[in-house]
Amino acid sequence: MEHLTELERQIQNRWADGYDAIFYERPVGIGNLRDFREYLDRKITQRFVDCTVAERKQLRILDTGCGTGQLLSQLKSDGFTNLYGLDVSEKMVQIASQKCPTISFTIGPFDSVPLPIGQFDVIMGTEWLHHVPILRPVFQRAYDLLAPGGFFCAMEPHNDWLFQQVGLRQSVMTLLFGPLLHFVGFKNRNKIQALSELEGDRGYTSWHRHLSVRELREAFEGIGFEVEMERRHTLVTYFAGQLFNSRADRMLYGLLRWLDRNMIDHMGRGGYLFLCATKPRHPRSGIRGA
Ligand SMILES: C[S@@+](CC[C@H](N)C(=O)[O-])C[C@H]1O[C@@H](n2cnc3c(N)ncnc32)[C@H](O)[C@@H]1O
Repeated sequence: MEHLTELERQIQNRWADGYDAIFYERPVGIGNLRDFREYLDRKITQRFVDCTVAERKQLRILDTGCGTGQLLSQLKSDGFTNLYGLDVSEKMVQIASQKCPTISFTIGPFDSVPLPIGQFDVIMGTEWLHHVPILRPVFQRAYDLLAPGGFFCAMEPHNDWLFQQVGLRQSVMTLLFGPLLHFVGFKNRNKIQALSELEGDRGYTSWHRHLSVRELREAFEGIGFEVEMERRHTLVTYFAGQLFNSRADRMLYGLLRWLDRNMIDHMGRGGYLFLCATKPRHPRSGIRGA
């Protein structure tokens, strides 16, 4: 696994400079992060219900696989004062440190780099677990680093996308939006090709394996967390990756988001998984939701 982590480090170093332009100058990245922040705020309020608002802002929060520090800089603007970042790519951390000069960063793989045990209230991560070949050491590490009552919170693309497993299937929405996909997908062809070249033989898509509830469930098994999962946003996840920050694309994104919120989530086939794994104050284990 170490050579894969090293490969990951090299890949992330190579595209760090363009990362914000690819993900955060279009509505899909912005929208996903906003959804995750809403989820995170909700979990912080629920889990730290006895704390005042001022105390919550002082929680010790570690962003793992923090990339260019988008989430950290937003939490900082929201008034959180005890923030830490970690990433295996030194180039990503360099960019994140420029964005957030007062935040401390650690460079290295999350499951092995030295960090204080039992000292974090919240450990979070967006869109990086699917870069890790074996998840269990990551979850075990999160458990060890959390204080009792703290939680690990993540957002990940879900493998139950409308098209991903067996092509056109199941839903009327798929049939309606299939042709649209090919139309908007064409716009992004050059960028996808460039990413494939950048990532070499592995290819862009094979590097990303989207996670299943089952894989996550198995990786959490027996560690001691209480795990909850929610699924989100099939259409946004699938189509909005092709959209950029133009007025027309933002409108299309708004439509997809509306459809997701009002129809797709009710059908239980979201394209994103949100998970929250709480370390109990008194040890016990179990899985809810999903
Ligand atoms: C797709 S980026 C996501 C970045 C950021 N969380 C975001 O949502 O914009 C994945 C990040 O995870 C980092 N990463 C991958 N494997 C890692 C590991 N084992 N330990 C720490 N960071 C890792 C990569 O270097 C990269 O910055």
